[in-house]
Amino acid sequence: MEQTEHLISRAATTHHLTLAGLTQLLEDASSEELLCRAADEVRQQYVGDGVHLRGLIEFSNICRQDCMYCGLRRDNGKIERYRLTEDDIVRLAEKAKGYGYRTVVLQSGEDAYFTAERLASIVRRIHAMDLAVTLSVGERPREDYALWRAAGADRYLLRIETTDAALYESLDPGMRYENRVRCLRDLRDLGYEVGTGSLVGLPGQTPEMLARDILFFQDIDADMIGIGPLIPNGDTPLGTAAPGDFHLTRRMVALLRLLLPEANIPATTAMETMVPRGRELILASGANVVMPNVTEGDYRRKYALYPGKICVADTPADCRACMGGRIAAMGRYVATDKGFRRRKIRKH
Ligand code: SAM
Ligand code: SF4
Ligand code: FES
Repeated sequence: MEQTEHLISRAATTHHLTLAGLTQLLEDASSEELLCRAADEVRQQYVGDGVHLRGLIEFSNICRQDCMYCGLRRDNGKIERYRLTEDDIVRLAEKAKGYGYRTVVLQSGEDAYFTAERLASIVRRIHAMDLAVTLSVGERPREDYALWRAAGADRYLLRIETTDAALYESLDPGMRYENRVRCLRDLRDLGYEVGTGSLVGLPGQTPEMLARDILFFQDIDADMIGIGPLIPNGDTPLGTAAPGDFHLTRRMVALLRLLLPEANIPATTAMETMVPRGRELILASGANVVMPNVTEGDYRRKYALYPGKICVADTPADCRACMGGRIAAMGRYVATDKGFRRRKIRKH
């Protein structure tokens, strides 16, 4: 087994590790600080001190899928469902622009009401405001992705959740791993910036599986990677599962920065749901993006993927001011551009 310090310094300079090397570092809690310091340096070198804020609009919690971990799953009868109107969504985007956001992320369950054309018309209206548009609405046919891209969508977030196909299909009943990968490849072909990521702590998931996830993100040349721990939701079949490990998730983020140095990596809301100030800790361990919520009123609470979600009683203005202050207190700054990936490494 190679010495940990050697592995970390090799990863920081070559941006490559083998499956065995990655697994070793994921398992090694004792070298977490060293690993995260190296990731912070690589972050500084490749993407700088700017933190990109993306305004998150949670526009519908209606979902036709039944993922075992998610509170929005079709069979969850306890959740109060809602769907914002087209005009409401556009109004929230306008407000987000007013708070200084340059990107909005439109996220929802897989809600069939939002036909390709309906969502395209929303994208057109928001694109016309000179905002970058990120969509995160799940698996759709290539034609839908193509229509939204033509309407002005810039980015798409679709986590692979886990690259272990059997585990994926056991936790996302009715969904096919192959189709998830097909979606990611279509999005890439169509010229989107592609965001993906993993859920850490799925029952049966091993460090080696997480290491394979990292190699997969490298292989598809992901532009953004969002990693979060599983937070068990009592109204789902995984309600009594153990929560994902915060520190393992942190090591995963740090390794992603070392292996995909120019990617945009968010400090996710789930990290702060688990640990107070968790987003700062992750921003200091390789991350460079935060997605503050711009959904208003009671809809924040109703978009209940998991319990204990932060900011449910706060306003969009609170979150913007809160994150701005915290980023400045870290000696970093809020980036004022749209935050597209900047390529420093030439592809051969
Ligand atoms: N429906 C779209 C999809 O699945 O891609 C977008 C919305 S979905 C709610 C966004 C992400 O929430 C999922 O990719 C999943 O990783 C995460 N998520 C769902 N339930 C969770 C839980 N209990 N704990 C942590 N993250 C969860
Ligand atoms: Fe629906 Fe996405 Fe939740 Fe799965 S993770 S149930 S697709 S909202
Ligand atoms: Fe919402 Fe701090 S980010 S109040």
